[in-house]
Amino acid sequence: MLPATVTVDPAFVVGPVRRRTFGSFVEHLGRCVYTGIHDPGHPTAGGDGFRGDVVELTRELGVSTVRYPGGNFVSGYRWEDGVGPVAERPRRLDLAWHSTEPNLVGVDEFMRWARRTGVEPMMAVNLGTRGVQEALDLLEYCNVSAGTQWSERRRANGAQDPYRIKMWCLGNEMDGPWQIGAKTAHEYGRLATEAARAMRMIDPDLELVVCGSSNSGMATFGAWEHTVLTEAYEHVDHVSAHAYYYESDGDLASFLASAVDMDHFIDSVAATADAVRAAGKHRNRVHISFDEWNVWYQKRAESRPPSGDDWPVAPVLLEDRYNVADAVVVGNLLISLLRHTDRVHAASQAQLVNVIAPIMTEPGGRSWKQTIFHPFALTSRHAAGDVLRLAIDSPVTETARFGEVPVLDAVATHDAATGEVVVFATNRSTTDDVVLDVDLRGFPGLVVREALTLSNPDHTWAATAEDDTTVAPRLNTTARTADGRVRAELPPVSWTMIRLGSA
Ligand code: AHR
Repeated sequence: MLPATVTVDPAFVVGPVRRRTFGSFVEHLGRCVYTGIHDPGHPTAGGDGFRGDVVELTRELGVSTVRYPGGNFVSGYRWEDGVGPVAERPRRLDLAWHSTEPNLVGVDEFMRWARRTGVEPMMAVNLGTRGVQEALDLLEYCNVSAGTQWSERRRANGAQDPYRIKMWCLGNEMDGPWQIGAKTAHEYGRLATEAARAMRMIDPDLELVVCGSSNSGMATFGAWEHTVLTEAYEHVDHVSAHAYYYESDGDLASFLASAVDMDHFIDSVAATADAVRAAGKHRNRVHISFDEWNVWYQKRAESRPPSGDDWPVAPVLLEDRYNVADAVVVGNLLISLLRHTDRVHAASQAQLVNVIAPIMTEPGGRSWKQTIFHPFALTSRHAAGDVLRLAIDSPVTETARFGEVPVLDAVATHDAATGEVVVFATNRSTTDDVVLDVDLRGFPGLVVREALTLSNPDHTWAATAEDDTTVAPRLNTTARTADGRVRAELPPVSWTMIRLGSA
């Protein structure tokens, strides 16, 4: 048993819990859209073709925003293909994923799905094969009330009122050599600035996200953000961050410490943005939109797109099956995002359905929850009020990738309205229990209302359509309060949520 102490104090507020931390992502990729959210033949589908079971699961997951329509896909997308009578829409090659895009779902359908699901849309424009004019046309289609070509086209297509989409991504991963229309930082910085300036002429209240690095291992990481923001700082609100983690070479210890990289990523981008702000004497402050993050086993066969003459519609792509260790890492990545709530103002787990996703579907059939569903749903449901900075005293463990890392990682939230304090914690040890001792100074009289732990003696257990319940968060009966402290035992490779309230 490894002892770890956490001190929770109401005075140490990092910032508010932001609902947008719990965003997700729907890309025209594999079966995310087609047979994922959209499956007209499915028994739960309404007249709009959207699966009711997926709508319900998305609500249960607690998703706030949904980024759309990509991802790599957006860098070759003509949004006009996806509006108007469905029978007249063209089928196109999707070069990003070597697939055929049937354009059965476009902006109008997505917006109907977003309304029905109760999520805020986050729209991306194509700055790969297209530019400022097409971004303006899409913005006019979506946000202008009436009286212009594109706004009237939207009305003719059935949407009388403008969509008033607030958050817009200025392209996607434009630093990536795999991206259609990839650019140097200088080229992209100029283009993003021109797009942002023009878009704001239509709607000054937009929140704009400029592309940061595709991951912290990019050769241009840091320099990219510096150059792009030097061009665009005054014209944007957020810089994006993307990161995927996976267990390489069976190195579980490093994998469990993935949040160390996310912490480093966020701290580095925030420092770079602040340096540009100081040098440019800017008054606004650019925050981070961590709008792609997850566990993704990129080297597995299912991540390989089709090739040659094979251009299928909605192929099985990136359909990773997640185990218990993956869910623990996802829970820890959410801890990292929350602890940076002062700088991370939005985030999107990539993606929502079938494609590296918490929700899986069978075409026309069952839907089910992956292991990673649970920490996301519980954190989204119970993190409320303010995020508190914790003093953590934890033993360390050696990892090949990150050196020594604390075995215990944790964050807490405090909702002044309800008085509830929630502690989210991971035990990153591969072998030992952690005995967690929480000092609740400043919160007299709190008792444990609920303590749930996700773990399994076999951390490689993965859910399936047949069984997605055998391993799920279970009551942690070791969690007790006494003398203003909470004590709980956390098994190795585990994620835990402890909710505390007045007796
Ligand atoms: O989420 C899968 C892909 O990962 C996205 O299309 C792209 O933006 C990123 O590289």
